[in-house]
Amino acid sequence: MNAFLAREGPALRSFSEGGPHRLTVRTTPFHGVNRGSIPLGAAYTTFMKILAFETSCDETALALLEATGGLKSPKFKVVENLVSTQINIHRPFGGVVPNLAKREHLKNLPVLLKRILNSSAKGGSASGGKSYLPRRQAGILNSVDLVAVTVGPGLEPALWTGVVFAKELAKKYKKPLIGGNHLEGHLYSFLLSHKKPVKFPAIGLIVSGGHTILLNMESLTSWKKIGETRDDAVGEAFDKVARILGLPYPGGPEVEKLAKSGKVTIDFPRPMLTHKNYDFSFSGLKTSVLYFLRDNPLPTGRQAKAKKADIAASFQQAAIDVLVKKTINAAQSFGAKTIILGGGVAANKALRDTLKKEAKRVRKEFLVPKSEFNTDNAAMIAAASYINFLKKKKYKITAQANLNM
Ligand code: KG4
Ligand code: ZN
Repeated sequence: MNAFLAREGPALRSFSEGGPHRLTVRTTPFHGVNRGSIPLGAAYTTFMKILAFETSCDETALALLEATGGLKSPKFKVVENLVSTQINIHRPFGGVVPNLAKREHLKNLPVLLKRILNSSAKGGSASGGKSYLPRRQAGILNSVDLVAVTVGPGLEPALWTGVVFAKELAKKYKKPLIGGNHLEGHLYSFLLSHKKPVKFPAIGLIVSGGHTILLNMESLTSWKKIGETRDDAVGEAFDKVARILGLPYPGGPEVEKLAKSGKVTIDFPRPMLTHKNYDFSFSGLKTSVLYFLRDNPLPTGRQAKAKKADIAASFQQAAIDVLVKKTINAAQSFGAKTIILGGGVAANKALRDTLKKEAKRVRKEFLVPKSEFNTDNAAMIAAASYINFLKKKKYKITAQANLNM
């Protein structure tokens, strides 16, 4: 054990034990045009380099961002964005197993940190002070202004891994540590590729595996929740319908893929579509898919796939109809100028396209993250943390499984 290891707590200790652990890592390096820093123009009051960690569910994610600008128009440059997915680990179980997720995060965190530092170090950073890391890697850490970590919502054992790792790192390098709200991350993820000021008021729709939330936003940091799901989240409904159809986990992308070859032939219910509120309910829709299959057994052979595709397309259309209609209604009632979409289900192209078209019809600007920032990532946590840092909003640095907005 070298000196670096000997002086660290248990989480960081594994940082140097990354070894040959194999990862499937999606990367989004250098989102900007070049590698240089964001210019510190007169209008900018703050410039920060943020290292962010996200371990709330089944993706271990790390990101290095440069952030500048005030609360009216924060600007981000994604220097590194690494996501190590655990899909293959959880797939045999048909869903995320919290303790397996924790085990994988513990393995992945040190490996990803090393990778992010190695990659950034290629640009050559000055090393400051005595360090047991290679000079350039330590230099990157020394140049970080803020460490951010998701504190919730999510799976508690999974959240803890990121919280403990980030805490130890921040302590060792004497960096401020800030807690990030995963849902705020999804809400702000469009900012990672959007450079212009947002026109307010705006309606925000967050659609993920655990949440379906409508917000009326006065500004980037001031909002009121006007609706949410009363039972299943829309992503959860996609996952459950996938399971009913015998599709592998994670179900959302599989349902979307299958729906492409199907036709909308079944009139599934549009729950709460006509209710005079902005709440959602997706549990009954999922159950009607189950009952439809019970009452209409699948044909055999090749026709089975075609029928399943029709079911997938019909279910997807029902879910989209409700999401889009309620969002557009809210935008009109509250006089919104902009509609913001975020969360894993925002990766669904049919949803994005429909909401975009409807937003255009009612003359609202439509903002959605670039595809790599829809599903879980740490860049969005860095962005949310920068905004909270400016706003001086602080979350307790502890795993908060049920944190909300
Ligand atoms: O935001 P996210 O990655 O994790 C949570 O915060 O929950 O969202 C994951 C959810 C899952 O339910 C997944 O099936 C769904 O997003 N999802 C999709 C698509 N891609 C991911 N649902 C529908 N269509 C997709 N293309
Ligand atoms: Zn998420």
